[in-house]
Amino acid sequence: MVATAFRALSLLPSVAIILTAVAATEAASYVLPAATFSTTAQREFDYFTLALQWPGTYCRRTHRCCSSNGCCGLNPLTDFTIHGLWPDYYDGSYPSCCKDSDFDEKKISSLLPDLRKYWPSLSCGSSSLCHVGKGLFWAHEWEKHGTCSYPSLKDEYSYFAKALDLYLKYNITRILNNDGIFVGTDERYSVGTIISAIIKALGTMPFLECSHGSLQELRLCFDKDFKPRDCIVQTSIQGNDRVDYKITSRKSCPRSISLPTYSPLGNGDASLVISS
Ligand SMILES: *[C@@H]1O[C@H](CO)[C@@H](O)[C@H](O)[C@H]1NC(C)=O
Repeated sequence: MVATAFRALSLLPSVAIILTAVAATEAASYVLPAATFSTTAQREFDYFTLALQWPGTYCRRTHRCCSSNGCCGLNPLTDFTIHGLWPDYYDGSYPSCCKDSDFDEKKISSLLPDLRKYWPSLSCGSSSLCHVGKGLFWAHEWEKHGTCSYPSLKDEYSYFAKALDLYLKYNITRILNNDGIFVGTDERYSVGTIISAIIKALGTMPFLECSHGSLQELRLCFDKDFKPRDCIVQTSIQGNDRVDYKITSRKSCPRSISLPTYSPLGNGDASLVISS
């Protein structure tokens, strides 16, 4: 579905994708408008998604190291890390870049030790920002998603503090361990077993996304007051004369999946990122 496809490409500005789609379907002479975001007209979001990434799956893609890549430490990361806390709409779309509020690291200086440990970037590239240029992974998440989390979260500090708070409160590694699911091994587990462990702990349905048979991302969803709720991700089923939608709890996951570990290249001096 469209929103999920955008999200998979979330390091690219969605405006660019829309313009590309327009360019492909319109006559060649069509003059594209300048890429500008409206930062006003988006309605309030419906619920939150806390997206967590499994480093064992992401970090297998690291072929070149750099200091900003959390995969580049001497030892493999053995815990889920945070991708972002995203305000979403029930229809599967989401607001983005809601306010002109440039990321300011000074506002979250007291959170930096935890952010470096639990919310590292897992790549060497920098991330697109809402208005101009590129920046830190944190800046991307704040400007694109965080600025839309009002009024539940009032500012940049509250946004990062709440994401960390939810991450530590619902420790997925521990929740899975409690049900006999051990991460960072070659063991394969059925998707149903993983989902059941989370339902048992939170009472709600998560969303799983895989890559090449391994868990890549696990999402937990919350109401606006941060009570766990089911994730609502729809897939479209194309019929002959209509499109139906079905709620799904997984994307690209075979019936049994692994949460593998990886061999760090260990030459990028990411000591800052993974120091404890
Ligand atoms: C989560 O739980 C695991 C397993 O009990 C533990 O090793 C890890 O340190 C915990 N993570 C955090 C961020 O507290």
